[in-house]
Amino acid sequence: MQTELINQGQKVDDAWLTKMLNQCVGKLRKALPKFQNAFPSACTTNMKYRIKGNDDWTNGFWTAMMWQAYQITNDSEFKVQAEEQLVSFKQRLADNFILNHHDIGFLYSLSAYAGYQITGSTTDQAMVVAAADVLVGRFQKKGQFIQAWGDLDNPDEYRLIIDSLLNLPLLFEAAKISGDSRYATIGQQHYQQVLDYIVRPDFSTYHTFYFDPQTGQPLKGATRQGYSDNSCWARGQAWILLGMPLYRRFFQETNQRERYQELLNYYLQHLPADGVPYWDLIFTEEDQQPRDSSAAAIAACGMIEAQKQGYLANGQELARGIIYRLGESYLTGADQEGLLQHGVYAYADNKGVDEANLWGDYFFMEALMRLKYHDWQTYW
Ligand code: GLY
Repeated sequence: MQTELINQGQKVDDAWLTKMLNQCVGKLRKALPKFQNAFPSACTTNMKYRIKGNDDWTNGFWTAMMWQAYQITNDSEFKVQAEEQLVSFKQRLADNFILNHHDIGFLYSLSAYAGYQITGSTTDQAMVVAAADVLVGRFQKKGQFIQAWGDLDNPDEYRLIIDSLLNLPLLFEAAKISGDSRYATIGQQHYQQVLDYIVRPDFSTYHTFYFDPQTGQPLKGATRQGYSDNSCWARGQAWILLGMPLYRRFFQETNQRERYQELLNYYLQHLPADGVPYWDLIFTEEDQQPRDSSAAAIAACGMIEAQKQGYLANGQELARGIIYRLGESYLTGADQEGLLQHGVYAYADNKGVDEANLWGDYFFMEALMRLKYHDWQTYW
């Protein structure tokens, strides 16, 4: 698989990246009137996003795409959109509206930290720290982890999940901004628990892992969005492939190079011929299951970051191959919304199956921007 991806990736040159980014920006521009003062839903239904408020874990992806489009085009229309959306992010924090989950980094790194980075806004800067306060409020001392979902005193929710790795950079930035190392310490403690318990001996991963609420002892792995407790949810493996090198960006002394390469090997060995995974890595061609294009886009970003952080020598080349396949075969048609077709949100809930989703769109653009602008600062 590595050789095929690297060969395909050679077709990705500057002109191709520019063409792709222009198509993405064109799609975003076309979508703007529909989502004025609102947000798209997490995923499409029949390839159309519904109009929603700022009430899901996915709103930050939309704002981040506004920032990306602004950075690509310098067109102030996108900046105005992002800044308007940030007003609703501020209100959401003030109202503590649907923030009783760990996805605070997905929401506030991609909106407020991005805004602070791009414009220097002190309002956005303060929002990063205020959002980090919400996230550290979910830290469970017994077990040393940030609880993913639900009420903190609900024993059935006493678990961490692999997606959480993308919520940690918010804490590390908040520590830098505020000078309060507590944010970073909690993030580090949580990271250690994820690596210790979510990675299986064969370098596949659990989606979620439970701890004993009385003692904090590790209990068991389980899935929520994968096929089964013992299978490997494709997007989960992609989250760790991006989350680990992002962590090393903040803590250079951490060295998990071999573990990273094994996790990557597991992922690559379970890909179908076109390099875009089925929604769970347990499936093979004969199962005829839907792909999850969003997992491919996330994993590609991970491989690029892994090369930057010294975990891989050929991460860029591999990512180019994946992004080429996505760009050539998975783009939405002219009458469809979103950027990438063939994502899966939650198969068991029949939610967003073989549809576009906001994070797939966002990470496709993140990968394109990482490949085109080598000094581009991501929003994590
Ligand atoms: N973080 C939720 C998901 O990946 O679906």
